[in-house]
Amino acid sequence: MNQDTTTRTALIALDAIEDGGLVEVEGSVEGDAESLILHRDGERVRAWFNVCPHAGRRLDWAPGKFLRSGGLLVCAAHGASFELASGECVAGPCRGESLRAVAVEVRDGSVHLANP
Ligand code: FES
Repeated sequence: MNQDTTTRTALIALDAIEDGGLVEVEGSVEGDAESLILHRDGERVRAWFNVCPHAGRRLDWAPGKFLRSGGLLVCAAHGASFELASGECVAGPCRGESLRAVAVEVRDGSVHLANP
């Protein structure tokens, strides 16, 4: 198969993420394989490193299984709660800190790293 750049850099098809949902994917960021959290919001997608600013743990309790409460993303380790619009921690042990964002874009029906 002749893969073009679009195919090679795709993380996941947009339709594979439920609207409003969260998924975990692996992406190559600056040459390193990283676990990433993707959040679909209509036709746009936000992404963050799957690393909690509190103690550096993954936020999911099993790969791709995230806790949510009242519209917030909750870290499975110690309960830090993050706003999905901003990635900011609004409750818990790292209140005021933020998830580290990763630039992504939706192109041709797929989610891509903006700066692979
Ligand atoms: S590592 Fe996420 S709340 Fe402690």
